Amino acid sequence: MTTPTRTAIIAGNWKMHYGPSLATSFTHEILPRLGELVQQYPHILCILCPPAISLLAVREALVAQPFPRIELGAQNMYFEEKGAFTGEISPTMVRELCSAVILGHSERRTYFGETDELVNKKARAALKHNLRPIVCIGENPEEHEAGMTEQVIRFQVQYSLSHFPAQQVKEVVIAYEPIWAIGTGKAATPAGAGQVIQLIRQLFAHMYGSEAASTLRILYGGSVTSDNISEFIAHPDIDGALVGGASIKPDFVEIVHKTIEVMRQ
Ligand code: PGA
Repeated sequence: MTTPTRTAIIAGNWKMHYGPSLATSFTHEILPRLGELVQQYPHILCILCPPAISLLAVREALVAQPFPRIELGAQNMYFEEKGAFTGEISPTMVRELCSAVILGHSERRTYFGETDELVNKKARAALKHNLRPIVCIGENPEEHEAGMTEQVIRFQVQYSLSHFPAQQVKEVVIAYEPIWAIGTGKAATPAGAGQVIQLIRQLFAHMYGSEAASTLRILYGGSVTSDNISEFIAHPDIDGALVGGASIKPDFVEIVHKTIEVMRQ
């Protein structure tokens, strides 16, 4: 379980679901209860990450019913500030509406060819523009089967998470998402995820020092639901979750509820 020095984060990655109208109605549906929960417990931060085209709609819903610690995040962005990059959105554009951005999600890496080098450029651009980068790393099923998880994680940490300025490194959030657990209903075990997360924290300590590593938030992602969130949160090394499928259902509120229940114990 996370400590008050490491506020838990529950982020909802809506992926390519909910255009502006549905995003508005879903936000209004979950917000009263979500807001009430978050208001009662200060050591949790919720980040809603709708598709880019729905960010403004969700921002408006959040402004209409403002609650502390419910923030908005994008699912991706480019690293350049402006220019001839058709179809992309820039850090300054994202910053107008959001406080965070998911970067290097495995679906971006797999379907859109994103490399560690590109993810790193994006993460550095996010920090430069005062956005909290949620950088995703994790091994694929073949690598998992072949016992290569540690090797893959070492590589991804080294190349996706390098060259961050010392003053901003505390804003970085990492999501460990084993690809075999994403959208499959087969979540990792808390012990298995915790072991990889410990390794990530050690690697981060080598790069940025033990103080930065001790405040770094590392989330688990992959088939998280209200049925299994408590076990993940109860693990001392896991600081929250990046939730996909369950984040576009009212179950998201239950995930936040259970997180708070475990943290209060
Ligand atoms: P899932 O997705 O919760 O649907 O497995 C997690 C993610 O892709 O971030």
